[in-house]
Amino acid sequence: MNKERRLIIAGNWKMNKTVAEALSLVEDLTRAVASVKEVDIVVCPPFTALESVSRAILESKNIKLGAQNMSENHFGAFTGEICAGMLKEFSVRYVILGHSERRQFQKESDALIARKAAAAHAASLKPIVCVGETLAEREGGQMEQVLETQVRGSLAGLTKEQMVETVIAYEPVWAIGTGKTATTQQAQDAHAFIRAQLAKMFDEATARKVRIQYGGSVKPNNAQELMSQPDVDGALVGGAALESRSFADIIKNSV
Ligand code: 13P
Repeated sequence: MNKERRLIIAGNWKMNKTVAEALSLVEDLTRAVASVKEVDIVVCPPFTALESVSRAILESKNIKLGAQNMSENHFGAFTGEICAGMLKEFSVRYVILGHSERRQFQKESDALIARKAAAAHAASLKPIVCVGETLAEREGGQMEQVLETQVRGSLAGLTKEQMVETVIAYEPVWAIGTGKTATTQQAQDAHAFIRAQLAKMFDEATARKVRIQYGGSVKPNNAQELMSQPDVDGALVGGAALESRSFADIIKNSV
């Protein structure tokens, strides 16, 4: 597939996989995608499996490591938190920030997510910043307002150079773990809207370089159609990333 931007497909394992299970998954995945060169592939295990997975993919040329969250602070008295420097010890390259589950359950705000994004860049980690509307917001005609507020708030203060090194994940909350995927047109429209916001916040050239992933019930059978949309530059995959076969098929069907 000929894309303007290089595809990035990430697996968000959420709170799943023991170390042994994580190793088994990533070893199978490494074999299954060994020949794929056209896609940035990222796996985001829970913190407890980062070290083992990091070792397991050391030899792999095409699988990179991501974390699912990090602190906005760099060190100190923040019990239970993990900072960017600690992630770097395991060669983590990406970090998911502001996932809708954290916005919902940990009450993460756009302002906090923006501070985390700044802290990630300060440590040369690439943030994957998540945005997306709920079903009530979409049905209430507020989708664009919600996306604009989240994009402006969560990316506030980034430089153009940092923005280009930031990935956005558009994850409509109603499509996460529900089996309801946005139609390709709904995904494309939301991605184009987000890119237009980036052009207003930064400039056209910057907006054109930013990769925007779609997330929400991505499966092997819908990946190709989603990725064929001009503003869809990859996927953030939950459930289907928990098995090497389905994650590898999503990747292979996308190229
Ligand atoms: P599912 O692919 O399970 O819908 O999850 C999407 C998601 O939340 C990825 O971050």
